[in-house]
Amino acid sequence: MPFEESKDISGAKELLLEKTLEFYKMNGRKPLALVRSFGCQQNVSDGEKLKALLDKIGFGFTEEPEEALLIIYNTCAVRENAEDRVFGNIGQLKKLKEKRPELIIGICGCMAQQEHIAQKVKESYRYVDLVFGTFAYNDLYQMLWKVMGQHERVFNQTDKYSDINEELTQLRDDKVKAFVPIMYGCNNFCTYCIVPYVRGRERSRKPENVIAEVKKLVSEGYKEIMLLGQNVNSYSYGFTSLLREINRIEGDFRVRFMSSHPKDAGRDLIDTILECDKVCKHLHLPVQAGSDEILKAMNRRYTVEKYMEIIDYARAKAPDFSFTTDIIVGFPGETYEQFCRTKELIKRVKYDNIYSFVYSRRSGTPAAKLPDDISDKQKGLWLRELILEQREVTSEWLGRFVGRELRVLVSGDGRKGEGWLTGKSGEDIIVEFKGGRELIGQFVNVRIVKAMNWALEGTVL
Ligand code: SAH
Ligand code: SF4
Ligand code: F3S
Repeated sequence: MPFEESKDISGAKELLLEKTLEFYKMNGRKPLALVRSFGCQQNVSDGEKLKALLDKIGFGFTEEPEEALLIIYNTCAVRENAEDRVFGNIGQLKKLKEKRPELIIGICGCMAQQEHIAQKVKESYRYVDLVFGTFAYNDLYQMLWKVMGQHERVFNQTDKYSDINEELTQLRDDKVKAFVPIMYGCNNFCTYCIVPYVRGRERSRKPENVIAEVKKLVSEGYKEIMLLGQNVNSYSYGFTSLLREINRIEGDFRVRFMSSHPKDAGRDLIDTILECDKVCKHLHLPVQAGSDEILKAMNRRYTVEKYMEIIDYARAKAPDFSFTTDIIVGFPGETYEQFCRTKELIKRVKYDNIYSFVYSRRSGTPAAKLPDDISDKQKGLWLRELILEQREVTSEWLGRFVGRELRVLVSGDGRKGEGWLTGKSGEDIIVEFKGGRELIGQFVNVRIVKAMNWALEGTVL
């Protein structure tokens, strides 16, 4: 039955509440939901909205599939291995469903927005009850009622979106760092990328709503606000003025944002970052490739020189300004020589970190139709080459902080073992140091004593 026909189910929320209350009376505890988000911060943020909706109808939460009544995987479609992982995870739930038929299994998010995925689940994963895409959140209660109350499978891949629903709040696990979406969707259509197809066109939240949310989070004690959008520089109401307004909010907190598209990142962005004391002195500026031909084929709409203008402008004003980036290795038709230009670019820019990926063919995107004759194995070797280059560049470049003091937001136990803590500096660099766990969630000043190729090491002052 097409989903539209079920829209007339009124009072789904109340019916669900009754059901969870009944469960409570019988079991002496709330029914539990497991919500796991894959992919980018935007998706994590959507997962937090999903949790808020479930919380309102009486669900508690768990990380253990064995004790969950409802399991929802909030998925990512950006690369094939992300999708494979989800199917692997779903496959593992089959036994659990056989043992406990009352278990409800759902898949949502970017992957679940695609018709061919919904079709595959419908036919080959018959124990999955619910598949819904990125635009269906407003219908969650109706969908859940169809599944829980009427024992039907629901598939909702609607691509119609209404205005941003400011009523949808988040239930955040993290009490220190908060994701705040400022816009949804993407209009850029980079030729390799699935995001515009699964997330629709750009829609921006009103600045007053963003500001109100940030104020609330700061008053609740949040120390880091991460503003989210696929390209924050095309925020409809002006991104730099939003940053400046947020910077005026009182409190001890810092602001980050991602991502920025180089075609829209200008000098005013750099100036704003440098002038606003709460805004981290770091820019995540995905370059994707180091050759103009490949950038053109990717429809990125900038050249290497244009990209370098932003970098050079920032470094002229602040010589140790921190940049991180995303890189795709092995775009269809990319030659080894063109790939080498990406390695050269890494040396030229001196990134503090890069997130690099082998190109993954996404059906429905323009690049999926291009001839692609380099094997994935070969591309994997190029990727390794790139990572080795980056480690060398980064460990040397991180050295600029040795002997200096950085303000670090402590996030948890360190990777270096017993007694070590970890956190991030405003430059988005991992800093490890020794200290008591009571420092977790606080800002501390750390004197840097050593640079590694993945992080800095220091002592608390
Ligand atoms: N909107 C953000 C990025 C979203 S996706 C931006 O433009 O910066 C995050 C990263 O995944 C991209 O920057 C790109 O490097 C990578 N990516 C996207 N599609 C990909 C594909 N088909 N294969 C491999 N990597 C991809
Ligand atoms: Fe994808 Fe490009 Fe949009 Fe980023 S800007 S989400 S890479 S289409
Ligand atoms: Fe994010 Fe993956 Fe969707 S990167 S926008 S969750 S496709």
